[in-house]
Amino acid sequence: MLRKRCDNLLDAVGNTPLVKLHHISKNLKADIWAKLEYMNPGGSVKDRISKYMIEKAEHEGKLNPGNTILENSSGNTAMGLAIVARQKGYDLKIVVRDTTSKEKVKMLEILGVDVILADSSLLPEHPESYNNLAKTLAENHPSLFYIDQHNNLDNNESHYKTLGPEIWDQSHGEVDYFITAVGTGGTLFGAGKFLREQKSDVKLIGVDPIGSVFYDWFKHKKLIKPSRYLIEGMGDEFLIKTAQLDMMDDMYQVSDKDAIKWVKKLAAEEGIIAGGSSGANICAAVRLAEQIDTEATIVTLCCDSGYKYLSTVYNDEWLTKNNLI
Ligand SMILES: Cc1ncc(COP(=O)(O)O)c(C=O)c1O
Repeated sequence: MLRKRCDNLLDAVGNTPLVKLHHISKNLKADIWAKLEYMNPGGSVKDRISKYMIEKAEHEGKLNPGNTILENSSGNTAMGLAIVARQKGYDLKIVVRDTTSKEKVKMLEILGVDVILADSSLLPEHPESYNNLAKTLAENHPSLFYIDQHNNLDNNESHYKTLGPEIWDQSHGEVDYFITAVGTGGTLFGAGKFLREQKSDVKLIGVDPIGSVFYDWFKHKKLIKPSRYLIEGMGDEFLIKTAQLDMMDDMYQVSDKDAIKWVKKLAAEEGIIAGGSSGANICAAVRLAEQIDTEATIVTLCCDSGYKYLSTVYNDEWLTKNNLI
């Protein structure tokens, strides 16, 4: 296989490997494949939307030299935006929850990002909560260019144009199930839309952390009161525009404990060090495979790198403190 040669770091975004999880799939009829999104330069799937959304805004004249970009992010979109901002010379302000792993915050600071920590104990409706702070800032400072990945369908479109075609090509059109964590939903619904257009019976299956509102809305059209969960990057306290839940065939709920158990299994059995949401994805993919009685191809994602979580997911003290061992 040819290695990529890039004139610009941003050309290194995408074209990540799709890898068969031989050990995890060993006793299952279906094969589970994982797209290693942590091999993007910023270490996550979010490099794709960062590059795409900024370049589209530039193209449409909405973002101009000298502007400051603003976003709220669990850290991965922030990292992707930071790389794009460094390459293109923009300033960047990022709102993250104060529970975001120290590694992610440190990396953003190294990249010169203005990191604003939102108090995670504030109610979601509070104007300074994680969900509202960037919006409040954007309303008060119209010169800021607010990406708004949770409500901006360019997020989904970026995956429709890149991730979807890659999965289709790399699986030689054999993908039967695409299952992955829903944060903004951009990956599942963007790439999923492309896959469905190629093969109408591809099943799209979401993964939600217990405590997020998506699962109960999808299953029972009931908006539950959200509760705290610790896996970063997935689920939400609100319904959001990019999470096009009606496109799903099914959704699985995964606890923090199960996500941790499976991300450790992924490291122990396959040699892959990924973040907690990848553990949730593998847990759900295995549950799905156990229900399938025929040969099938299940594709999921390793959304980000485990190196971003050495102080949390891979730290026994943190796991013990949070009752996750
Ligand atoms: C670690 C991680 N996993 C999963 C996701 C979910 O991706 P999406 O927002 O496309 O649904 C995200 C999004 O931020 C993430 O950071």
